[in-house]
Amino acid sequence: MNWKVACAAGDVAVDSMKRFDVDGVSLMIANVGDGFRAYPPVCPHMEEYLENSGICAGGVLTCDRHLWQWDMKTGEPQGPAEKPLLMYETKEEGGEVLVFIEQELEYEFDDDDD
Ligand code: FES
Repeated sequence: MNWKVACAAGDVAVDSMKRFDVDGVSLMIANVGDGFRAYPPVCPHMEEYLENSGICAGGVLTCDRHLWQWDMKTGEPQGPAEKPLLMYETKEEGGEVLVFIEQELEYEFDDDDD
């Protein structure tokens, strides 16, 4: 099994997220109120690190570079965002947040050949 402990449940406040390294895989752990979500550490638009550009408010994550937004619970894009957030499966056990990592999730970025 590939469940790994990412952090303690108390490490991430409700409606916020933090970056953690889990067995060499960097990810953002978000506390969405009824549980936790885990995303790759970068914005799916232009690879901006979400620990710098991400703003959590009211269950919505906004990247402040170009204002792409996502529903933090589902990862679904809102407004101008064109790609959903990739998500790892998570669970909470014994006060710890565990993430199921089979392989590192990465976005595909278009090469700009022009
Ligand atoms: S880099 Fe995040 S919205 Fe553009």
